[in-house]
Amino acid sequence: MDTEAAKLARLIRENQPCVALTGAGISTESGIPDFRSPTGMWAEFDPLEYATLGAFEADPEKIWRFYAPRFSMLTEAEPNAAHRALAELERYGLLHAVITQNIDLLHARAGNQEVIEVHGSIRTSTCPACGARKALDAVLRLLEEGESAPRCSACGAVLKPDVVFFDEMLPQDAVDRAYELAAQARLLLVVGTSLEVWPVAELPLVTLLAGGKVAVVNEGPTSVDDQAEVKLTGKAGEVLGAVIGQLRPARGQVTVEDYDPDWPERYKAESDRIRAALGDAVIEIEHMGSTAVPGLAAKPIIDISVGLKSLELTGEHVGAMEQLGYEDLGELGLPSRLYFRKGGETSTHQVHAVVWGEEHWMRHLAFRDYLRSHPDEAREYGEAKRRVAAEVDYDSYAYVERKNVFTEELFARAWEWHGRG
Ligand code: APR
Repeated sequence: MDTEAAKLARLIRENQPCVALTGAGISTESGIPDFRSPTGMWAEFDPLEYATLGAFEADPEKIWRFYAPRFSMLTEAEPNAAHRALAELERYGLLHAVITQNIDLLHARAGNQEVIEVHGSIRTSTCPACGARKALDAVLRLLEEGESAPRCSACGAVLKPDVVFFDEMLPQDAVDRAYELAAQARLLLVVGTSLEVWPVAELPLVTLLAGGKVAVVNEGPTSVDDQAEVKLTGKAGEVLGAVIGQLRPARGQVTVEDYDPDWPERYKAESDRIRAALGDAVIEIEHMGSTAVPGLAAKPIIDISVGLKSLELTGEHVGAMEQLGYEDLGELGLPSRLYFRKGGETSTHQVHAVVWGEEHWMRHLAFRDYLRSHPDEAREYGEAKRRVAAEVDYDSYAYVERKNVFTEELFARAWEWHGRG
């Protein structure tokens, strides 16, 4: 497992953006059966009898006799280790979005921000007669009050759950976004689906045709196993748990130090070396972040923004940066930036290589210059960082999460001040 998990972890780190594509298999460890496994729903129920629009229109009460217990099972279920691992990957900037065939809302409940529900969800139910929409809570209340099939309070018709039946069109916005993400993905991480249902089963091919890679985590076979970089056969919770263990930043200790007048010197020396390493790919180099603001307390890490002509660095450029002791960490979740780090987990220098003059470059310039020209706010910012570091007991990961809240506000103010907000 470890070597396979390590291989998948490296694939995720090195192929960004990474997009996940999930199916019922990711929720079986939450107690929700999948569809096509021997213990799956379709082993007991005929999908043509219970999951088609025709069947619903013919006998909506019957369909709700099938869906009512399903609604309670889905709402009582909890996200499992696999859902939580994908949410954690997103927090680290290593997962761009989740495309899911599941209607159970468990990805959103685990904390994922961008979840594309291509087969709809139990979130709402709609009246097929007048179009009125009812939220899940209201539908559950009606079912708990003993209604065999929830009815529209406006016109009395039986509501239809907003899940996609087999003979029904998929929601166009969701499909368009799913194809867009699949084409953008440098890695499509397929988890817990047999990939037997179209058009979703086509998405891995979209990624492959666009030059991306596919990785699969599934107990049973899928239709893309042969084209996958890796196929990890096992329970998604265990596999993704092992993978996230390899990608979780070491929970080091954070230190927030008084401003050190040596920081600009250290920046100057390093920027000369970087300019020599990257040569004519560079337009401008700037000292960014807190160590570039006189008087501001900061983590003793020199942040350097390198303004490039374009984001295309050659192997030679990367080799030259590695010669200087930098690790090439690729985009690390930010498509507009190449990230290099010196000093490993306790980094001393961080290089953010971006296209000169574009938003990333301008925002960081605005942030630095705003703090340089607002010393009171810079002092407050320094004190806030110290306070937060102490509150989270200097845990580096918790510190970043907490600090981001007020740093984002400051970024917005700086951008406004810079006349760009
Ligand atoms: N970990 C990893 N894989 C698992 C696990 C698990 N814990 N449990 C089951 N699996 C695998 C099974 O081996 C199977 O290959 O997940 C896959 C689930 O496949 P399906 O049951 O076919 O479900 P899915 O691919 O999501 O179905 C697609 O079909 O029935 C319709 O609308 C429904 O969205 C659904 C669509």
